[in-house]
Formats: sequence, structure tokens, C-alpha cells
Amino acid sequence: MLGNFSYCNPTKLYFGEDAMSNLSEELKNYGNKILLVYGGGSIKKNGIYNNVITILNECGKQVTELSGIMSNPKLEKLYEGISLAREKNIDFILAVGGGSVVDYSKALSASVHCIEDPWEKFYLRMEDPDNEAVPIGVILTMVGTGSEMNGGAVITNTKDKLKIGKVFNEKVFPKFSIMNPKVTYTLPRYQMVAGFFDIMSHILEQYFSNTDDNTSDYVMEGLLKSLIHSSLIAVENPEDYEARSNIMWIGTWALNTFVAKGKATDWMVHMIGQQVGAYTNATHGMTLSAVSMPYYRFIMQDGLGKFKRYAINVWNVNPDGKTDEQVANEGLHAMEEYMNKLELVMKISEIGVKKDMIADLAKSIYILSGGYRVLTAEEIETILKQCM
Ligand code: NZQ
Ligand code: ZN
Repeated sequence: MLGNFSYCNPTKLYFGEDAMSNLSEELKNYGNKILLVYGGGSIKKNGIYNNVITILNECGKQVTELSGIMSNPKLEKLYEGISLAREKNIDFILAVGGGSVVDYSKALSASVHCIEDPWEKFYLRMEDPDNEAVPIGVILTMVGTGSEMNGGAVITNTKDKLKIGKVFNEKVFPKFSIMNPKVTYTLPRYQMVAGFFDIMSHILEQYFSNTDDNTSDYVMEGLLKSLIHSSLIAVENPEDYEARSNIMWIGTWALNTFVAKGKATDWMVHMIGQQVGAYTNATHGMTLSAVSMPYYRFIMQDGLGKFKRYAINVWNVNPDGKTDEQVANEGLHAMEEYMNKLELVMKISEIGVKKDMIADLAKSIYILSGGYRVLTAEEIETILKQCM
């Protein structure tokens, strides 16, 4: 049964090969002082930077650049951005990049006019901003996080070894996002497939909860089938526009808050994966792939009916003459084979987790209760050992 909810997603999307042509019209709605935020330089290599700068100049905007946003953006970098944005009295943040740049820009948007310490207020106390947020626009260059149409902003505090995702309210959602699938063609294969799995994981985190007949579950099965189909095409031919554009669109719908409405959600793969990221700085999607199979096998009995449904509806397992457990296991096996085809990281030992880290890592993981089983810290340690 659907619970009570409100639904509003204020982000306007421009999608397709010509999406960038809408930038100048959009920018007319905002002030002149633009903070252009980007990462380690991929946008300079693939030409997006020149394209954007030309448009900003034609619009007569005053541009301040803030570059070097690292993957898994760090708290110190946020403090640096806050000082710069205050000094230049910025009117608008234009984020050009993947989830890290977009997340960072949202954290910055909320923090520029915040008089308290943003880490304490937004990330530890999980409060919403009571101050004005600087408006943000996005030009998305990497697919996976869904950050282009949600309030999520994950920041890593390296000193305290904590990677925390704050979900901001609508004030901080991007005002618009420009999504041209072709700009994702230059992604290295490792990042591309990590993004594909991030999308899959977002859907599964919301699918594996509740036992009722929720419309979202049917939507998610459709999204998963399209993702599996298109991703297998994209790994063979990364420039297949149909596949890459479908995946870009699925990535947005997987985490733009729509499928979660009225439903409990799990998010334990992300809780475990994020802390693996805090300890290793590994690529987000790969931290998820490395923990997913042991996690799902661990909780399968607790949600057996849903795992059976997943096997049949998503992986086309034939249930005839089999027990529920056999069907569910075959579904997970098919998922594992698919992950191997994508050459995803399947063990946390491959991304820098050492045996002697496990006990501390397990204790640092935040336990959520929306999934089929509320884990104990000991059970998380067992799962982590199985991920090695
Ligand atoms: O920094 P540059 O030089 O731009 O290179 C990036 C980076 O090295 C590169 N890249 C991006 N677009 C490219 C490109 N290279 C060539 N061509 C392009 N078109 O790819 C690398 C990875 O980029 P990054 O932004 O770090 O990846 P992703 O989009 O996966 O974002 C990861 C961050 O998002 C958070 C993660 O925890 C992580 O911090 N997440 C945000 C969520 C949200 N907002 O809701 C939810 C997710 O679960 C996730 O936690
Ligand atoms: Zn994710």
C-alpha cells in the first residue's frame, strides 16, 4: 500500500544532442556573476569547456572558475569553494561534470550563505538550510548518480573517515540540467561501467523493500530491463547513441525521487559502499558492485518473495518445477554473470580494503532499517569478509 507523500521535482531537463543550445536562454534568468565549477580537466580535453565559456562570454557573464573538484569531493575543497563564492559574491553556480562536481555544487549552494559549519549542520545533524541557496545549473558529463535531478550531495570527510550523503530539499535541486548523451562518449570504460552499476544499484535499493503490490516495482523492473539491454550494447559499442541515451535517461529516473514515493527503501549497499569509499577513495560504482552480491545473498531469505519476482521478471528465470529459493538464487546468479560481463569490481580487496581494516570499517557503517533485514554490526562484518 502506498504511504503518504508529496511529490515535486523542480529541475527542468534539456535532453539530447542539441541540449546545450538552451543554456544561454536559461542563464538569462539569473544574475551576472557565475561560478563555473568543474573537475580535473576532462571538460578541457573533450571541448565542453570551450563551448561553455563561449556561451558564457556571449551572454556577457562575469565568470569565476573553481576547478579541481575531485571524485568523492572532500570537505576541505568545500570550505575553499565557500570562501571563493563569498569573496566574489556569486549569483549562480554552473556545474559542469559528473556526480562529484554536481554534488559538490549543491553542497556549496547550501553553504555559501550558511552561518554555521556546513558539515556539522547538514551532514552530521542532517538539517535543511534555513538560509538562501545559491541557484545551480548543471551540464552533465557522466551518467550514474542521478545528481542532475535530485537533492543528493555526498561529501567525504577524510580526517574522520566519513563519506556522508546529505539529501537536500527542493531549494537546492538544480534549476536546470543539460543532458547530451554524446558528451559521455569520452568517459573511460571503467567510469562508464561504474556508472551503469550505480544506476542498477539505485534501482535495487528501492526495489528490495516491502512485499506489497507497488506500482514503482513494475516501473523499476522496466528500468532494469532497459538498463541491462542497453548496457550490454554500450560495452560493445560505446558510441551507440540509442543505448547511451537510454542509459542516461534511466540514470535520471532511477534517482530523481519518483520511484521511491510511498515505498520503504533499503540503501544498505550504499551505506556499506560509501564507507568502503571513505576508507579507500575508490570509484563509487565499483564500491557498490564489490559489495552487492554478498549483501543480497545474505538477505535473500528475508525477502524471498521479492527475490523470486526479481529473478522471473528481470532475469527471465523459468520458475517451473523449482523451489522459491532455487528461483531466487538463479536470479542472483544471472545478475552476477551480467556484472562479470561488464567487468565490474567484484571484491573490496581489489579496491584497497585490507583485512586489518574490516573491523573498524564495519563499525563505521550507518545501519538503516528500510530493507528486508536490519543488520547488526557483526553481520556487516561477516558480509565485508565475504566481499574480500
Ligand atoms: O574530474 P574530471 O577530469 O572531469 O574526470 C571525471 C572523473 O575522473 C571523469 N569524467 C566525467 N565526465 C567525463 C569524464 N571523463 C571523460 N569524459 C567525460 N565526459 O569521470 C571521473 C568520475 O567522475 P565523478 O563525477 O567522480 O563520477 P560520478 O558521476 O560517479 O560521481 C561520483 C560521486 O557522486 C556521489 C558518489 O558518492 C561520488 O561522490 N553520489 C551522488 C549521488 C546523488 N547525488 O544522489 C548518489 C550516488 O549514490 C552517489 O553516492
Ligand atoms: Zn550510487
